[in-house]
Amino acid sequence: MESQPTAHDRDLIGLEGMPAEVIQDLLDTASAFESGFRGDELSGRLVANLFFENSTRTRCSFEVAASRLGARSINLGASGSSVAKGESELDTAVQLDAMGVDAIVVRSSVNGMPARMAERCTAPIVNAGDGRHEHPSQALLDLLTIRSRLERLAGLRVAIVGDIANSRVARSNVYGLEAMGAHVVLVGPPGMVDESFAGLGPAGRTTVSHDLDSIIPEVDVVMMLRIQRERGATCPIPPDYRVSYGMTVERAEALRPDQWLMHPGPVNQGVEIDPEVLRSFPRSLIEAQVSNGVLMRSAILLRAIASS
Ligand code: CP
Repeated sequence: MESQPTAHDRDLIGLEGMPAEVIQDLLDTASAFESGFRGDELSGRLVANLFFENSTRTRCSFEVAASRLGARSINLGASGSSVAKGESELDTAVQLDAMGVDAIVVRSSVNGMPARMAERCTAPIVNAGDGRHEHPSQALLDLLTIRSRLERLAGLRVAIVGDIANSRVARSNVYGLEAMGAHVVLVGPPGMVDESFAGLGPAGRTTVSHDLDSIIPEVDVVMMLRIQRERGATCPIPPDYRVSYGMTVERAEALRPDQWLMHPGPVNQGVEIDPEVLRSFPRSLIEAQVSNGVLMRSAILLRAIASS
């Protein structure tokens, strides 16, 4: 006899090991929202957003997504909650679960915190970024953005550039992009990415380079990453970082008309991307990433809650 799906089949902890069909379903559901929301898809449902680490895009787009679907949100951070009195993040999630919320969205600086919450809570858990581990909703919206613009994922080549060692965005993108048939090359200074990252994805195809200019001609998409100063640099930021690894005006002008620029945000302007490029590069997908965040997070909430 087939076992019934449990709430935790609808968790979104990470993209590592996620089957391509599940990713495809999420992409298709998100794309369908491009033509609008009915507005009552999650009517009467309650989403708890627990953001124990700062966020603008992820927190607000989960709130917007819940609202577009007719659900209501409870928004809690470390400050203003009993975490400030010493209650653990895990126990905070357990309290919200006991109140009967329909899903818990969590951002934490602790690797593995959403997985630990999933072991203790009945409500589906959605990882909104945990430490250096994964940021699955970001990678899924990145896949959606690439697929919307380039009309496919399979066979594409994507360079992910910068502070790879600290980056949950890079990890989730490697898992997601490779599952969908794309090739990833991780680029950065030796202290920020090393050969241990080679072969990271499910197909074992991910490669590593320290030479951005030799990689750019080979790729369809250049995804810049933020240097995560708050996590403690894995190596001192090289003084020539912008010149060697930044999307300078000169590099942007040299991109071919079929090459696209991405960044998950927030951007350290003048470090990862020159301000002029950020303002006016015609093939930047950075704003589209933010818009698509609402569509993808709507698909994620629907998957987590709708059939429960
Ligand atoms: N990309 C991203 O996670 O941004 P926020 O930290 O603003 O949510």
